[in-house]
Amino acid sequence: MSLISRRNWALRLSIILNICVLLYVCVHFGSSGPWIDDGSVNWESQPLTQVQSVIKNANESQRLPGTITTNVEAKLSKTKSETNNKLPPIVKVEATKRIESENNKDNGVNEADANRPLTQLNQESSPLAQPSVTMTMKDATPCIQKSLKPKRAQRGDYWVLYNYVPMSMSVQCWESITYTTHADFTFLDNLEPLLKRWQAPVSIALHAPGTDFQITLESIKYLRSCGSSLISQLVTFHIYFSNKHVPKVVPPSDKFLNSAPYNCSLSAPWANNHTKMYKTEKKLVYPVNVGRNIARESAVTHYVLASDIELYPNPNLPSKFLEMIRKSNQPELNKPNPKVFVLPIFEVEKNCQPPENKTSLIQMLKAGTAIPFHKKLCSVCHNIPKGKEWQQTPETNELHVFHVGKRTGNFAHWEPIFIGTNSDPMYEERLSWEGKSDKMTQGYTFCVLDYDFLILDNAFLVHRPGIKFYKKDSLRQTLAAKTNVLIKKIILPELKVIYGSRKGCVI
Ligand SMILES: *[C@@H]1O[C@H](CO)[C@@H](O)[C@H](O)[C@H]1NC(C)=O
Ligand SMILES: *[C@@H]1O[C@H](CO)[C@@H](O)[C@H](O)[C@H]1NC(C)=O
Ligand SMILES: *[C@@H]1O[C@H](CO)[C@@H](O)[C@H](O)[C@H]1NC(C)=O
Ligand SMILES: *[C@@H]1O[C@H](CO)[C@@H](O)[C@H](O)[C@H]1NC(C)=O
Repeated sequence: MSLISRRNWALRLSIILNICVLLYVCVHFGSSGPWIDDGSVNWESQPLTQVQSVIKNANESQRLPGTITTNVEAKLSKTKSETNNKLPPIVKVEATKRIESENNKDNGVNEADANRPLTQLNQESSPLAQPSVTMTMKDATPCIQKSLKPKRAQRGDYWVLYNYVPMSMSVQCWESITYTTHADFTFLDNLEPLLKRWQAPVSIALHAPGTDFQITLESIKYLRSCGSSLISQLVTFHIYFSNKHVPKVVPPSDKFLNSAPYNCSLSAPWANNHTKMYKTEKKLVYPVNVGRNIARESAVTHYVLASDIELYPNPNLPSKFLEMIRKSNQPELNKPNPKVFVLPIFEVEKNCQPPENKTSLIQMLKAGTAIPFHKKLCSVCHNIPKGKEWQQTPETNELHVFHVGKRTGNFAHWEPIFIGTNSDPMYEERLSWEGKSDKMTQGYTFCVLDYDFLILDNAFLVHRPGIKFYKKDSLRQTLAAKTNVLIKKIILPELKVIYGSRKGCVI
């Protein structure tokens, strides 16, 4: 294509884009949609969200010579090709809208709160520079945008309400990390402390069989109506239950989202009734890995931190992580092996606040108010390679790979928690929480596939306060024995067929 005709194209496209933006703003103005959150957030007093800080950190790339023209062009030709594809219109307009809303800032255009933080940041940089920043992060993370549209589907013996309550913030697949997790309603008190630290998307699958369903809905409503506004902005809730324990009524997603808000003078639904759970009365097991997989697969971002809801990451982790990926200036980051990024886990005493950074963590370890996770339950499961050295290495400002571990030798039974992607092997859905070893088969496949476990230097997880001790549970012991047989006789032989085997890899 000649330069002139390319310019012509660019001109035409920019006119089309402007019309799109206008239309978008009008639509937005007219109706704020069922799940755009209009709650009043005082962003001035809120810490930076993930999305903001990523864009802020990407700052230095703005001044690379030539990036602006190239990237605007790239953006335009991208938009052109997207016009012919099936991406929803809002995604296309998103990046431009940030620039546009900067110009409209004083015109009384009342954007949804979800978009406001980005606008504020744009004040610091010229509007034209914005596309080059976003492109740079985008280039470092090739990924496909996923839909947040609610969907009812079956999965083995389970019914799943995917995206039953979607987050209101629009997040591109390359611009953040999703914390993916599973729970029942009795664990939902963790969500707010978790989000205060994480400040980035969360995808959570809730197990809600029979009458647990209603109380689960009430709990979601409570969190969204009475808790931090980060909940409706950043959390996507999925719900699942066995087809043998279908609730009496399952309202469609939009009906639930438009129903009356929770009466916040009442206490949280999970506050008292733990003993009366339907799951407990019917003696159901907790299908932990079904939940893990639902939540992970549904995450809209490329990078995912598949974790357990009681494990709180240190603040600022998402932006620091993405900055590390964007720079990719350590040889460990560029090796061809598949890789995941491990976060060491700690627990703290009941009356202690989880440490905010590695410096305070190290102080607490020295004082004995913090210890490595499950030191008293199963130290081989969570011991990390070079764990001692990690604890002796002072905090630095950025995030780096501290050490590359393998799941062999002393660490053959390691159950690390890590940041990875949806290309990593999934969790085995025949295993339950009660039967234990629920992450061992996944660990085995990681070993066979020769994964590098890149341990991060300034990132960690802290269990909600309270140190766990060993408690004998005879029902779990019986189930665990059955699970071991299932793994040895059935699952392991399957994995050997599907993934092959490798010396040193064990379950
Ligand atoms: C961002 O850019 C400004 C100048 O445009 C510079 O002074 C500042 O140090 C940069 N910040 C980062 C984190 O790179
Ligand atoms: C909310 O609950 C309180 C306490 O039970 C009650 O007094 C109040 O009338 C309720 N408000 C609504 C709108 O139902
Ligand atoms: C907890 O149980 C009590 C007694 O059965 C009931 O009155 C109350 O409504 C329950 N609380 C919630 C939040 O469901
Ligand atoms: C680490 O966190 C503590 C509070 O938990 C804070 O007082 C301290 O300034 C922080 N240090 C750094 C280096 O950020």
